[in-house]
Amino acid sequence: MNETDAPDGQTEIIRCRYAIVGSGIAGLWTALHLAEHGPIAVITKSNVRESSTQYAQGGIAVSLPPTDSPELHEQDTLEAGAGLCDEPAVEVLTQEGPAVVEELIGYGALFDRENGQLAYGREAAHGTSRILHAHGDATGEEVERTAYEATRDKPNVDVYETTAAGELLIVDGECLGVQAVDIREGRLVRFIADAILTATGGVGSLYRYSTNPPVATADGIGMAFRAGAALQDLEFVQFHPTALAAEGYPKFLISEAVRGEGARLLNPEGQQFMDRYDRRAELAPRDIVARAVYAEMMSAASDHAYLDFTPIGTARMQRRFPGILEELHQRGFQPEREPVPITPVAHYMMGGIATDLHGHTNIARLFACGECACYGVHGANRLASNSLLDGLVFGKRSAVAMAEMGLLSADAQRRAAGHNQVGVYAAPAELKQLIPDLMWERVGIIRTDDDLAQARRQLAQWAEQVELASQPTLAELEAANMCQAAMLMATAALHRTESRGAHYRTDFPDISKQWRKHVILRRRPSGELIISDRPVDTAAAS
Ligand code: FAD
Ligand code: SIN
Repeated sequence: MNETDAPDGQTEIIRCRYAIVGSGIAGLWTALHLAEHGPIAVITKSNVRESSTQYAQGGIAVSLPPTDSPELHEQDTLEAGAGLCDEPAVEVLTQEGPAVVEELIGYGALFDRENGQLAYGREAAHGTSRILHAHGDATGEEVERTAYEATRDKPNVDVYETTAAGELLIVDGECLGVQAVDIREGRLVRFIADAILTATGGVGSLYRYSTNPPVATADGIGMAFRAGAALQDLEFVQFHPTALAAEGYPKFLISEAVRGEGARLLNPEGQQFMDRYDRRAELAPRDIVARAVYAEMMSAASDHAYLDFTPIGTARMQRRFPGILEELHQRGFQPEREPVPITPVAHYMMGGIATDLHGHTNIARLFACGECACYGVHGANRLASNSLLDGLVFGKRSAVAMAEMGLLSADAQRRAAGHNQVGVYAAPAELKQLIPDLMWERVGIIRTDDDLAQARRQLAQWAEQVELASQPTLAELEAANMCQAAMLMATAALHRTESRGAHYRTDFPDISKQWRKHVILRRRPSGELIISDRPVDTAAAS
């Protein structure tokens, strides 16, 4: 790693072979697989562990023999995705999943076992039990620990904590680096690299109620859009049906695995209702369950429904969900005895930066992976526990593709160092409070033409306040990306005049064959927004 100051004496310049933005599973797993290929800067805006990955509960979906097969896993993923998954992408995920999970175990991930054999849990919309979990309900912590410890000792990997990426450096149509803010020092740092990966996670902070940690502010989506990258499927936000209905942000998630073990949903009057909505009842796909819970809450004018843990039995509850029980006890709930109040909240972004199956975006040298990316694998509704698997499978694939990128010429390096990017985009920090309320009310679980149009108008007004700043605070940098991403999400949701998967509109309540396609958003260098579409890929991959 080469570190110098820019000629202005203010912007520090760091030359590396690979720049990776984000230290969740997607970023760390990619870094691990690139570690033999040259110096890597992992740029992360909080501490290295802070990520959605760290808080994942239910587990990792994987079809290990003899009881399961990748084909069955593929079928369940396609069905949950409501006709919008690209089949080659799902095939890659499910076929390559088992080997990559074995690899994670080889690096020391300790998944729960029964009688010496890996123990598989059940989650909604899976036809069989195929969810590996760790310490009962702390899978994410174990996955993040393993990936971090495996990466930490690699001499080629440097982690830059409290460093927030703000802008991608585009020179003659190629991405040659990333401009970031050292949050503690308040100064700009420019990473120049042969290949750049955005692995910045989700968008949960754009909603008033979400399971995501505060770092999930859609920075990758904002940066990539400004750089000219194509974005796909941004209208599909997954709402998780069972977050604890209690004060605080983020909302505490109660894993779907709890229903997989037999817990029942009750409406505000204390009655079971899911079989009125779907034959799979509590184990229907997440979009259906979230909307059903929401409908029952609305018809009773209540801000919560209930989750009844008692069918699981206390001993099994303690063994399978020790973390959830501890958190609920600390907050004064007794799930062993009485139902716990729950509510649906924003959880996962199915769309993101459009990539091929190796993480390439439409911009040379720019890659994307994990929740901020969209390879078409999750369609209109992600199947539970497919996201950690996605980070592993596509992280490894991105690493292979990034390793193939040739070195920047001396001239390209000079142009990147001398790039006239004077700062990063920022917006008033108060937008961080305003956007989540607007998105919750107008681009939420149930959408209408009016609401979406109003949201877009308001966001367009706020977007006028986004401008270049040489020393923005983290909140100002995040506000700019939240504003940008929210605007794109409202635009895509307004554009799709049907209901499919997680996108539900009262003015177009049915699924439409015509809409079996992806909505793609892109920005021309002039700033103009282009909306186009791409048919769903149904071709067999092999
Ligand atoms: P993250 O893990 O979110 O990592 C993103 C990283 O990018 C973070 O390090 C963040 O600080 C950094 N970052 C963001 N912006 C910037 C910036 N501008 N500059 C520098 N760094 C930046 N999925 C499952 O498969 N199974 C589960 O059981 C499961 N349970 C979940 C439970 C909860 C509570 C949540 C929130 C999610 C859960 N998910 C689960 C979803 C899954 O955890 C995430 O989708 C997945 O971990 C995303 O990984 P990632 O690496 O893409 O992003
Ligand atoms: C959960 O444990 O319910 C979350 C699983 C997921 O988001 O895949």
